[in-house]
Amino acid sequence: MRIEIPVTRVQRQKPRPEDAQLGFGQVFTDHMFLMDGAVDAGWSNPRIVPYGPLALEPATVALHYAQSVFEGLKAYRGQDDTVRLFRPDRNIARFNRSAARLCMPSIDPELFLAALKQLVATDRDWVPRAPGTSLYIRPVAFASDADLHVRPSRTYVFFIILSPVAAYYAEGFKPLRIRVEDRYVRSVRGGTGAAKTAGNYAGSLLAGEEAQKDGFAQVLWLDGINQEYIEEVGSMNIAFVIGDELVTPPLTGTLLEGVTRDSVLQLARDEGVQVAERPVAIAEVMAAARNGTLREAFGTGTAAVISPVGELAYKGERVRVQDGEVGPLSQRLYDRLSDIQRGRLPDRHGWMVAVED
Ligand SMILES: Cc1ncc(COP(=O)(O)O)c(C=O)c1O
Repeated sequence: MRIEIPVTRVQRQKPRPEDAQLGFGQVFTDHMFLMDGAVDAGWSNPRIVPYGPLALEPATVALHYAQSVFEGLKAYRGQDDTVRLFRPDRNIARFNRSAARLCMPSIDPELFLAALKQLVATDRDWVPRAPGTSLYIRPVAFASDADLHVRPSRTYVFFIILSPVAAYYAEGFKPLRIRVEDRYVRSVRGGTGAAKTAGNYAGSLLAGEEAQKDGFAQVLWLDGINQEYIEEVGSMNIAFVIGDELVTPPLTGTLLEGVTRDSVLQLARDEGVQVAERPVAIAEVMAAARNGTLREAFGTGTAAVISPVGELAYKGERVRVQDGEVGPLSQRLYDRLSDIQRGRLPDRHGWMVAVED
C-alpha cells in the first residue's frame, strides 16, 4: 500500500549553499516531516511542512529527563542522478529498539520509510552532487508532555530534518589520534548504551572535550565495569586487524549496533577476510601493537564510513598503528562501501532504496 503524506510547501525556497561550502549539520533543507504521538492514540497527523522552529513549553519532559531518541542516516545521489537511502530498514528497526528502551511508542516501519522517502523526494534538489557529499537525515522522537513528574510522557513529537553535508575526507583520510579513556565510561551493563538516546551523548561530551584539549581527536571507550574491554570510539564502532583477523567487540547491549559496522563486516566476509565478533581487551590491542601484529584499526559510522586510527594513547604509553597511515583493508572497505552507496558498484545485498519509484 502506498502511503501519501500531505505536503505544505514553502512559499519561497531558501538559497542552497554551493557543494564546496557545505559543512556538517548546520544547514537544513526547506521541509521537515512532523507527526504527533500519544500513548493511547498512537501516531497521528503525519505531514511534511516548511522547516522551522518548534514551540515548546519550558516544562517539556524531554528537556528535563532526556526521554528522546534519534537516528542518523544518509541519502546519496548516484551517478545516474537517482537518490537512494542506505539501509533505512536498519535505522528504523534500531530507532524502535531505542524507543522501547526509553518507554516510547514505536513507529510503524512502513510509515517511517514512507516519511523518509517522501521527505527526501520533496527536497531532492538539496541532495548535493559533488564527490563525497550526501544528505544527512536526522529522525527524532521526544517526550512532549508539559509535566515535571519523572515518568514516561503520554505525548510525543516525531520529526525528520535533512541537512546537506560535505565530504568527510575532502582532503583525503586523516588517521585519528585516539586517547583510550580510563576514567569516564559511556555505558554500563543494563544501561542505555545500545540505544541512540540523547543522554548517552550528553554524558560523553566531557571525556571528548578533555581529550581534544590534550590533542586527541576522540576517545576509545572501555567497558563500564572493569575498564578492560574495548567498546566504541567516539560515536563510532571500532574494528582492528590483528594478525589476519578483523576483530570487533560483540553486541552485548552496551554499544550501539552500527549499520556501517554490520555492512563493513559483511563486505569483509564477502572477500574472504576472517571476521570475529568477540571481546577485545585493551591489553590485547596494546600487546599486538608492541609485537607488530596490530595491522590496522578503524572506526565505522554513517558520517565518515571508515575513520582510520593512527595512534592510541593508554596510561602514558603511545602506540602507532600502520605508521599513522591508512591500512589496505580500511581503504578497500571504504572504497567498496562508498561505491555501493553512490551506485558505482552493484548493490549485491539490496542495501540501497531509491526515494522515488
Ligand atoms: C555511539 C555510536 N556508535 C556507533 C555509531 C555508528 O553507527 P552507524 O554505523 O549506524 O552510523 C554511532 C553513529 O551513528 C554512534 O552514535
